[in-house]
Amino acid sequence: MKFNHAEIIEMLSAEGDEMQQLLDKAHAVRVARAGEGIYLRGLIEYSNQCRKNCLYCGIRKDMPGLERYTLTHDQVVGAAAYALREGYGSVVIQAGEITSKQYTDAVERIVRDVKALTLESVGAAPPEGERWQDTLGITLSLGEQSLDTYRRWFGAGATRYLLRIEASDRKLFSQIHPRTIVHSYDDRLRAIMDLRRAGFQVGTGVMIGLPGQTPAQLAGDLTFMERMGIDMCGMGPYIECAGTPLAGGQVPPLQWRMDMTLKMVAVLRLMMPDINIAATTALEAIDPQGRARALRSGANVMMPNITPQDGLSGYKLYDNKPEPGCVDLSMPSIRRGVPGDSKHFTSVAGKSE
Ligand code: 5AD
Ligand code: SF4
Repeated sequence: MKFNHAEIIEMLSAEGDEMQQLLDKAHAVRVARAGEGIYLRGLIEYSNQCRKNCLYCGIRKDMPGLERYTLTHDQVVGAAAYALREGYGSVVIQAGEITSKQYTDAVERIVRDVKALTLESVGAAPPEGERWQDTLGITLSLGEQSLDTYRRWFGAGATRYLLRIEASDRKLFSQIHPRTIVHSYDDRLRAIMDLRRAGFQVGTGVMIGLPGQTPAQLAGDLTFMERMGIDMCGMGPYIECAGTPLAGGQVPPLQWRMDMTLKMVAVLRLMMPDINIAATTALEAIDPQGRARALRSGANVMMPNITPQDGLSGYKLYDNKPEPGCVDLSMPSIRRGVPGDSKHFTSVAGKSE
């Protein structure tokens, strides 16, 4: 559906019954256009090293007292094998932004080896009557990289990439990032376009309830995603993280951020009926039912954290972040054993699920 700026702002201001009607409508559109199934991605937090210093983020380069880790090759491939055995269909490999030849090579090798896993090689046995895809879908979320690096990772077998714009309004973007050369709005845009050129299904997203953020900017975020023709979206509430420069800024109450996130998901679903929209982990930091509510408001993807723990606790992007493993996977609509590509992407590219 096509809406103008004023109509989007109007929908985002809905409260009470009106808000519930919006969420219900988005749920119906999701089921009709993106499918009944909820897709799972196993999230592997590969490294908490990062060269950037985003003002809101708990693993920013200058975060004091944070122990840094990078999983080994075998830990990542092992976590992916677990995901395949459990019928996740797909994994997301996420890390801070690291740019070195050595790292690019290491990621390429990981992607290759994860792609080579098969149901048989990991000893997976789908339940009676279910057919599972033989290999995993691979999504990367590793920040801004060169087009050449994107091409190499795509060539190794990754097919989707998540790179949030964080705030599509230039001014707000500059308020939540340091004014240095590595934090450039134009470079972020360039990177999102390069992902397309490299052949990826592209996901982006924003944070909701940032200090100083206006309803007009939030509406602008939705039209930005529509204009970019994205295939996937992950957006969640901004949650203050103690020790970061942005913590302590004036922000709306948590409940407002929760409701606004649900409404943003719902309106985006109406605007882009066939994309994949994630019910993000940050929702759970506000309300244990947060993700489940988003899945009834237009979202169709859930990303349970499957990072091997082995004594790690360092991927704390914000306060109250849920620990790996605390997700209820008993929902009947969860689809196991399928990669769950964005229908938006496959319908354009003429491929099937
Ligand atoms: N609150 C909510 N989300 C955050 N992220 C980083 N810091 C925070 C925070 N304080 C999100 C960013 C990033 C993703 C990996 O985590 O949007 O893209
Ligand atoms: Fe690094 Fe991403 Fe955090 Fe920014 S948001 S500091 S790029 S991990």
